[in-house]
Amino acid sequence: MLRVTAALATVVLVPILMMAAPPTPPPPGQTPQARPGNIELATFPAEWTYKPGGQAPSAEHGMVASNCALATEAGVEILKAGGNAVDASVAVGFALAVAYPEAGNLGGGGYAVVRTSDGRSAAIDYRETAPAQASRDMFIGPGGKPTEASLVGHRASGVPGSVAGLLALLEKHGTLPRARVMAPAIRLARKGFVVDEIFRTSIGQNAALIKRFAGRELFLPNGTPPDVGTRIVQADLASTLERVAKLGPAGFYSGPVAAAVEAEMTRGNGTITAADLATYKPVWRTPIASTYRGYGLIAMPPSSSGGITLVETLNILETWTDIAPWGSAQALHRLTSAFQRAFVDRNATLGDPDFVTLPLARMASKEYARQLRAGIAADRATPTRTLAPVPREGRETTNYVVVDRWGSAVATTTTINSLYGSGVWVPGAGFFLNNEMDDFAVQPGTPNQFGLVQGESNAIAPGRRMLSAMAPTIVLDRNGQVLMLVGGRGGPRIITAVVQAIVNVIDYRMSLADAVGAPRIHHQALPDMIDYEKGGVPADIVDALKAMGYATQPGGTGSLTAIKRVATGWEGLFDPRKHGLAGGY
Ligand code: DON
Repeated sequence: MLRVTAALATVVLVPILMMAAPPTPPPPGQTPQARPGNIELATFPAEWTYKPGGQAPSAEHGMVASNCALATEAGVEILKAGGNAVDASVAVGFALAVAYPEAGNLGGGGYAVVRTSDGRSAAIDYRETAPAQASRDMFIGPGGKPTEASLVGHRASGVPGSVAGLLALLEKHGTLPRARVMAPAIRLARKGFVVDEIFRTSIGQNAALIKRFAGRELFLPNGTPPDVGTRIVQADLASTLERVAKLGPAGFYSGPVAAAVEAEMTRGNGTITAADLATYKPVWRTPIASTYRGYGLIAMPPSSSGGITLVETLNILETWTDIAPWGSAQALHRLTSAFQRAFVDRNATLGDPDFVTLPLARMASKEYARQLRAGIAADRATPTRTLAPVPREGRETTNYVVVDRWGSAVATTTTINSLYGSGVWVPGAGFFLNNEMDDFAVQPGTPNQFGLVQGESNAIAPGRRMLSAMAPTIVLDRNGQVLMLVGGRGGPRIITAVVQAIVNVIDYRMSLADAVGAPRIHHQALPDMIDYEKGGVPADIVDALKAMGYATQPGGTGSLTAIKRVATGWEGLFDPRKHGLAGGY
């Protein structure tokens, strides 16, 4: 049943090559048009970094794509052991916490959307919550200005949700025992893994933060990152994971692990207590179900803004029945105008649905999209300031996607916000804590680290979840079968990157590699500016956008992981802008 064929060797080999290089062009003589399905050959600007016609790794039965090769391998191990997509996702989640500490975590939170093999969908919100001692103005300094405490150090952390969320997901939709799905992560922590260039570079680039806290002994022995080729063993983390595997959530949220978190908080004047941990609960939410040109969308609802903002954007785009040529000024104008309106609503109105009433029905409505479309001139930018009262919203994160042989699918995004979170590492328990408190509107109206200007609806209050932009998304084909899974990192740039990947597949019939490798733009209402990837938008198109009234500048985008169904099974991909591994069997 669990056939291991010669195909496996190909599947494993291709992604390893891809870790250092953008998608590889098809071999001579094989044009993208020759591929099965209705894929069309994309044309990218000549200056763009990645060439069209790239090939994503494929597999027949199941596929995993993540930003960390060891975590992807953990997922594939569980799929091959007979686990479903949920079992494998949970294995990836715990493995990321060990082998990808810049974003993978036990000390953070996340979201997952699930499509089960029998066609049901589910969404779990395990976003961090503000501790009971948190207060609205806790990050406002004596001069009335926000301090750096929402980003660095003990007070920056929300109550971690990842362990509770992953275990709830496993209990409801998984099939394998907890100890089995956690075995790869426990092995990676207990026996260690060999440090590669990606890991060393990541630690090195963040050494200034890490060395301020207790993680320095493990990650900066002798003051520098461990050498490539050496083995990093995380004994405290292994014990934490073993305890969780044995006891379930209680292994993390009470007992010695909770006590270690509280002790570190006391030492560093933080706010999380053992009582905060004991009362943390993940929440099952009803996924946002919508459509785009007849394709189904299963998207993450608040407390993430990701799903509703991408649905509002796609609804506006759908009002144009003609498809503007890809990359044209007209296409970018439409895209920008849609992003702008959806982000205005997002930034002004969204927050934790358990605390504030959200205009979700309106934001998801096709009629509302038509009204918004009516305000978009064919060739003229609309200044954000004329659209609505705008407050403001405001980084490290990782997305992973898994499908199994039975057709179930899980897209998950998890984060500790910035790389290595708040920098605080819990001695004795072995993990970093998040700095998610900065995702609140620390001072409504003042931009956060992402430049987002957010409002009252996202102000700090005890127990509240801070608004997120994470957008794990599942796209269904017109027959209701899973077509694509996509999500990413990049704060608000996640939303705009996910939208463009979906549009590239549906409107422009691009292959997965092209849809993800294509250059992207970003607009988040405020700042009122189109960011475009360098080399991704030719000068004449930039000039045309300026003539319409847009401010433009070269800028960044999110980075994605994605899976897409193809005639032979599944293609999986990590963004060529980042590292990772896609593999299957
Ligand atoms: O939840 C959010 O929206 C942010 N904390 C995500 C941070 C992120 O994507 C960092 N990646 N660059």
